[in-house]
Amino acid sequence: MLTDYDTYDFAHRRHIGPSPAEMAEMLETVGADSLDALIDETVPKSIRQAAALDWPQMTEHAILARMRELADRNRVTVSMIGQGYHDTVTPPAIQRNILENPAWYTAYTPYQPEIAQGRLEALLNFQTMISDLTGLPIANASLLDEATACAEAMVMAKRVAKSKSAAFFVDAGCHPQNIAVMRTRAEPLGIELIVDRPEALDPEAVFGAIFQYPGTHGHLNDFTDQIAALHDAQALGIVACDLLALCLLKEPGAMGADIAVGSAQRFGVPLGYGGPHAAFFACADAYKRHMPGRLVGVSVDSHGNKAFRLSLQTREQHIRREKATSNVCTAQALLAVMASFYAVFHGPKGLHHIATHVHAHAVALRDALTGAGFTVAPEAVFDTLTVDVGAMQGVIWRAARAEGITLRKVGADRIGIACDELTDAEVLTRLLRAFGIEGQIAATRSDIPAGLQRQSDYLTHPIFHMNRAEAEMMRYMRRLADRDLALDRAMIPLGSCTMKLNAAVEMMPVSFPEFSRLHPFAPAEDAEGYKEMIDELAERLCVITGYDAMSMQPNSGAQGEYAGLLTIARYHAARGETRRICLIPTSAHGTNPASAQMAGMKVVVVKAAENGDIDVEDFRQKAEAAGDDLAACMITYPSTHGVFEDTVREVCEITHKHGGQVYLDGANLNALVGLAKPGEFGADVSHLNLHKTFCIPHGGGGPGMGPIGVKAHLAPHLPGDPLTGEGAVSAAPYGSASILPISYAYVMMMGGAGLTQATKVAILSANYIAARLKGAFDVLFSGRNGRIAHECIIDTRPFADSAHVTVDDVAKRLIDNGFHPPTMSWPVAGTLMIEPTESEPKPELDRFCDAMLAIRAEIAAIEAGEIDAENNPVKNAPHTMEDLVRDWDRPYSREAGCFPPGAFRVDKYWPPVNRVDNAAGDRNLVCTCPPVEEYLEAAE
Ligand SMILES: Cc1ncc(COP(=O)(O)O)c(C=O)c1O
Repeated sequence: MLTDYDTYDFAHRRHIGPSPAEMAEMLETVGADSLDALIDETVPKSIRQAAALDWPQMTEHAILARMRELADRNRVTVSMIGQGYHDTVTPPAIQRNILENPAWYTAYTPYQPEIAQGRLEALLNFQTMISDLTGLPIANASLLDEATACAEAMVMAKRVAKSKSAAFFVDAGCHPQNIAVMRTRAEPLGIELIVDRPEALDPEAVFGAIFQYPGTHGHLNDFTDQIAALHDAQALGIVACDLLALCLLKEPGAMGADIAVGSAQRFGVPLGYGGPHAAFFACADAYKRHMPGRLVGVSVDSHGNKAFRLSLQTREQHIRREKATSNVCTAQALLAVMASFYAVFHGPKGLHHIATHVHAHAVALRDALTGAGFTVAPEAVFDTLTVDVGAMQGVIWRAARAEGITLRKVGADRIGIACDELTDAEVLTRLLRAFGIEGQIAATRSDIPAGLQRQSDYLTHPIFHMNRAEAEMMRYMRRLADRDLALDRAMIPLGSCTMKLNAAVEMMPVSFPEFSRLHPFAPAEDAEGYKEMIDELAERLCVITGYDAMSMQPNSGAQGEYAGLLTIARYHAARGETRRICLIPTSAHGTNPASAQMAGMKVVVVKAAENGDIDVEDFRQKAEAAGDDLAACMITYPSTHGVFEDTVREVCEITHKHGGQVYLDGANLNALVGLAKPGEFGADVSHLNLHKTFCIPHGGGGPGMGPIGVKAHLAPHLPGDPLTGEGAVSAAPYGSASILPISYAYVMMMGGAGLTQATKVAILSANYIAARLKGAFDVLFSGRNGRIAHECIIDTRPFADSAHVTVDDVAKRLIDNGFHPPTMSWPVAGTLMIEPTESEPKPELDRFCDAMLAIRAEIAAIEAGEIDAENNPVKNAPHTMEDLVRDWDRPYSREAGCFPPGAFRVDKYWPPVNRVDNAAGDRNLVCTCPPVEEYLEAAE
């Protein structure tokens, strides 16, 4: 090396925040001789891995070249496969200003509404759009994929239907991947699936039924009669539908449907070889408190101004645990935002135009094929048709491939064709040539049977009628982004969420067309680059975790939990054992018990000891009591208390002794990579939140990826392919494949040594914060030598008595300092869980610590009676610009209120609203866009 400064060292120069000199200072503060000494004091020897991770680091330019090489091994054709996935035009303004904009993609789930008004508004637009198009009054802010949404609808129907039946009817015209995922979900819950043609439905025999509209082979049916019959039998009617089709077709609400689900993918979200895409879920008003996923609602702030927030959080796993409505945590917020902007960008007329374009091409195609003597079904089409080609299937399919078009093979003798936004006369000419038909055809007419035509308006809200010039669109996207606090402005110290750097270079390949424009069911020969990348990533993840096999299917951590527990259940079943009990410590994340319940297991809660660790004696007793019924335990390591427990091996051994399997929640893997491998110290299966440890951005509440790693004995029981296997948990074989390049690039650029160093620095940074806050705040839990893992929990409960200050007050005051509050009241009520990650440079860590100490000083002033106990900067936080300019009658200065230590003077972050009233929003649930006058008032 020419100098000792390697500017291309991504791991140490770009990803890891503190410089070597800063690290030396931090080590001094924590009182450790060196980074390695700190790690030795912190991580139990008994779990340390023997061999170092050993692959080399790549530079940013080398990884881009590698990604290009892999991309070149994928082949993009004109995809006319359909089956729930369609090519679409992502408006460049949305691609650049949302998908590729860190202000949008690095935000966290909007649990702190004051710093999330922008994305909450965009998500409310999404809900309004879904509600309008489906004709149902209430819609959530996205689910993981259409197949999962179908399964969620089925389970919700079971919960709310008055029918006592245990059977559920599935229209055989549903997309096969939807049926596969519903089958997986039904089995452990004892739901019998009846898959048949809609005509065969016996409403008395089921608690609900789902119909696909248009059907997977293009059929358009009006399900009004079936749904009415279901209602007579106290059962629910569900329609899985296509948003674009609903621009022309009678909507599910008009058919009387109780629930409508589907995917918003074709609203400007790239195919991505399966995802990520936003699924939607809409329902009748009566069921709104039972619906899965997150729901954005409208409330007011402390000045009575309109403010958005996540509603009905009391339904969620964090509170209801195994009784929760569903386990959905991370969803698809960023993609829902993109889809909502697609609707804003085009407006109802634009969407109607696109739908008509798609439909007219399908009609022209149908007419040309029937004119040439082919038998085509159905008679009435929206975008998809199925051609009877007999023994010619292979020949025609290959001829189309030669024309650069990929079609769907249906059975042995039919071919499915789906038109999309990009279908034009030239594509149809090539396609018809494959069928042996020469000549041009023109798409000139629409042909939807009168009874199926949509009668109602949609997207009438002014937000979908704003000026659509790009200048206006760009500014609207910018305005919303500016209301939010994402990683591009400040550290987000959310414990358990690992809000680390999502490097620009990691994000770039996501937009390569060779990754973004592949259909999930494209022939394998078109996805060789993907396969190589996914295999290589899975292999590295196996090395990192000590597991033998990896399933890349789950789309989130919680879906990984569910997949992992099903894998365990199938393993027991294959050995002829029925085991149902799952031991879960009180400190577990709420998704753990919710997932266990979904997998058909019975949750037995294990106590925490005084110091926060698992109470091993209680664990032992409960494992013994479960005996032959012990299916699994679910533990998190390091624990959600931010501690490396010494007893983890013992807990694994007890579980194994009783024949159970160890599920280790991998959400905290950022404290383990390169130091310890769950697969080596006793765990059998883990999910990995790639959207935490492996740099996939949180997107304001998704996307995510939660692949599961397993030991060899569980490998045969991993989720199967949704089309050809059994036990699928996602619609697409590799879940949200198009975001895997992010994790791949991270793992390759860091190299084994860089990843290990990142873990060590994450632990150093957390200990540094704990050391700096010591004395001012109690750090609730610590492990060996008083050290903590990669996060720390500080206690704010004493301030309730001493100063009437709550955890909310401290969190909201941090917003004035320009920070996203840490994780609040989990796993212990009244605490803050702080996780800095390795990516934050020391000046940012110090800015945060200074802010926390300044808040502590304010609390001390309240305790000492120096400032009013109710009218003070902490209680009134956060402060808005409006506060600054309105009459100031407070017993503290404007400066003290609005510019506390840590807040930037010039680049000050101003929350757009004051503290949001949570209860008011739940009492008066409004989940679609409020009238435009309120927007105007807010802007004035
Ligand atoms: C400990 C733990 N387990 C599981 C999850 C669920 O992961 P996801 O949100 O990806 O579903 C989380 C998410 O924050 C978590 O912190």
